[in-house]
Amino acid sequence: MHRFVFSIFLCFAAIAPFLNCGVLADVVTCSGIVPMRYRNDMISIMDFGGVGDGVTMNTKAFRAAIYRIEHLRRRGGTLLYIPPGEYLTESFNLTSHMTLYLARGAVIKATQDTRYWPLIAPLPSYGRGRERPGGRYMSFIHGDGLHDVIITGENGTIDGQGSVWWNMWRQRTLQFTRPHLIEFMNSKNIIISNVIFKNSPFWNIHPVYCSNVVIQYLTILAPPDSPNTDGIDPDSSSHVCIEDSYISTGDDLVSVKSGWDEYGIAYGRPSIDITIRRVTGSSPFSGISVGSETSGGIENVLAEHISLFNMGVGIHLKTNIGRGGIIRNITVTNVYMENVRKGIKIAGDVGDHPDDKFDPNALPVVKDVTIKNVWGEKVQQPGSIHGLSNSPFTGICLSNINIHGGTTTGPRKTPWQCSDVSGGAVEVSPWPCSELTSTHQTGACSIPF
Ligand SMILES: *[C@@H]1O[C@H](CO)[C@@H](O)[C@H](O)[C@H]1NC(C)=O
Ligand SMILES: *[C@@H]1O[C@H](CO)[C@@H](O)[C@H](O)[C@H]1NC(C)=O
Ligand SMILES: *[C@@H]1O[C@H](CO)[C@@H](O)[C@H](O)[C@H]1NC(C)=O
Repeated sequence: MHRFVFSIFLCFAAIAPFLNCGVLADVVTCSGIVPMRYRNDMISIMDFGGVGDGVTMNTKAFRAAIYRIEHLRRRGGTLLYIPPGEYLTESFNLTSHMTLYLARGAVIKATQDTRYWPLIAPLPSYGRGRERPGGRYMSFIHGDGLHDVIITGENGTIDGQGSVWWNMWRQRTLQFTRPHLIEFMNSKNIIISNVIFKNSPFWNIHPVYCSNVVIQYLTILAPPDSPNTDGIDPDSSSHVCIEDSYISTGDDLVSVKSGWDEYGIAYGRPSIDITIRRVTGSSPFSGISVGSETSGGIENVLAEHISLFNMGVGIHLKTNIGRGGIIRNITVTNVYMENVRKGIKIAGDVGDHPDDKFDPNALPVVKDVTIKNVWGEKVQQPGSIHGLSNSPFTGICLSNINIHGGTTTGPRKTPWQCSDVSGGAVEVSPWPCSELTSTHQTGACSIPF
């Protein structure tokens, strides 16, 4: 909890406006997007033979309990209580109108026996597994076509025990794409709150083709060298609100996506209205990111009050040729970052392709990106913005950005780098590239400062 004490301490410092100092402003929250439901009907995993000794398999207990919720539908839905203890299990599906409630000290642990992980079809917007051709392993906790689902409790843990999967990735012995820790597909009215996610095999939380999703008060942990353990990846989803969470993983903390090249273009499902606020964390990759899978388009993203420590890139918008898709109206504001390789990166040449059938003429469009109120300490390089020559990035607006170099003295290593970009900059230090015009009277920035 020292990071929390540390944040409070910083609130009294000059950089307070960049931090999560709730006392300084009215605290805005995600509430209202999804109604919180109280369940009158409650069952315990123990009623279905659950054994929390860390070694007994609880697959039957979870499946039986959820079967009971699905088939003996109770008015107002049912809460499934997981008492303290370690419940080892294979993956399982949730159902609608349920709350999965983890008591303090409850741990739901994924089996490390990879033979017992079922395969499911690739996502239509990806055309294949993200890592390997063909199907993909179903997420540890999975929901398809659901509504009114809550995962909450007293900060119990969902532990993916992902090291076996990371090793298969390292040894190149993976046959199919690794499983996410939690995936909701085609679902709506979902709340995930007050849970600890640990050691996901692959991405931690993946809402795809979903709407009205609230994700709050989470702790998401995986080692910095664990491959592709993204924190939260809203994908072709709308009205997703993420707040008040601590994320420290081996890949992007939050990454907004919308499908991959020709498959994502054909599926055509954008991510719209995504809010990310009061997120703190660290990772060797990106803090707040968009992409690189952006083929369905990404619109109306607001990220605010973000604190990043020991990062690769602080704010990262990434796409590529072949992606197509429009990325627009992205706002990132009130960011504190410290010990970061690169502060801000916007690039049109990031990420791989699903196969050689991608259309090299499907160029992404990036416009109306506002990044403001950023304070950086020990940042090796302030930023780079590289559009595409046949699709320059427009309306890239930077304001009130102060980025300070590393502790080593001497001339600043690298200044901003830009190409194929237009927009504006006001009160940015170090001063960004000449491509960003220096006044706000030019009209280059369509969004007012
Ligand atoms: C879980 O859901 C997946 C995808 O919807 C389905 O293929 C699978 O059969 C389900 N598994 C169980 C045990 O119900
Ligand atoms: C759970 O953790 C969150 C995030 O750290 C915290 O805000 C919340 O107070 C904790 N809740 C409980 C019941 O301990
Ligand atoms: C831009 O996105 C914000 C949310 O970040 C939204 O409130 C606003 O209406 C959007 N503007 C346009 C022009 O769509």
